[in-house]
Amino acid sequence: MKVVSYFIVCALWIIMSCQAKMERQVTKLNSPDLKEEFYVIPGEDEPLDPESIKKGKVLVSYNDCYHCHREESRAKGPAFTDISKRYPIQKAYVDMLARKIISGGTGTWGYPVMSPHPKISEEDAKLMVYYILSLDQK
Ligand code: HEC
Repeated sequence: MKVVSYFIVCALWIIMSCQAKMERQVTKLNSPDLKEEFYVIPGEDEPLDPESIKKGKVLVSYNDCYHCHREESRAKGPAFTDISKRYPIQKAYVDMLARKIISGGTGTWGYPVMSPHPKISEEDAKLMVYYILSLDQK
């Protein structure tokens, strides 16, 4: 009985990992010195409200974001256009990225650490994410 369940687990694992591979799409990102190809998370973009994008743009320029980010190219942090290529505009990703702006973090892009921004409200952080993710829609 044990052997049988071992095989079932293995088979499931193989099926699941194949599916994960098929769903991934590869793209070249803008940052010229980034040699690796990054996986783009597949998914449909949800429509964005142009007012929110505008507000987000202002918030990004009034905060310290451009100390470490540029729009089109890599600086200390990833290019905003690369971030927008990577994530589909969906609530789950917007929430996740907004939380990351507030709490900071590392490990997603193979860059150094992003500093936390505890003074930014969740609402403002989401507006900034809308702006950043809107950049590849033009
Ligand atoms: C001290 C430098 C620094 C500052 C200031 C900074 N960032 Fe970052 N940012 C980074 C780094 C480094 C990463 C990559 C982190 C990683 O690899 O997980 C990053 C990643 C991101 C990501 C992508 C996160 C992910 O998980 O894919 C977003 C969105 C982002 N920054 C937005 C902002 C915004 C908005 C601001 C201004 C409020 C800002 N950053 C300020 C360094 C910075």
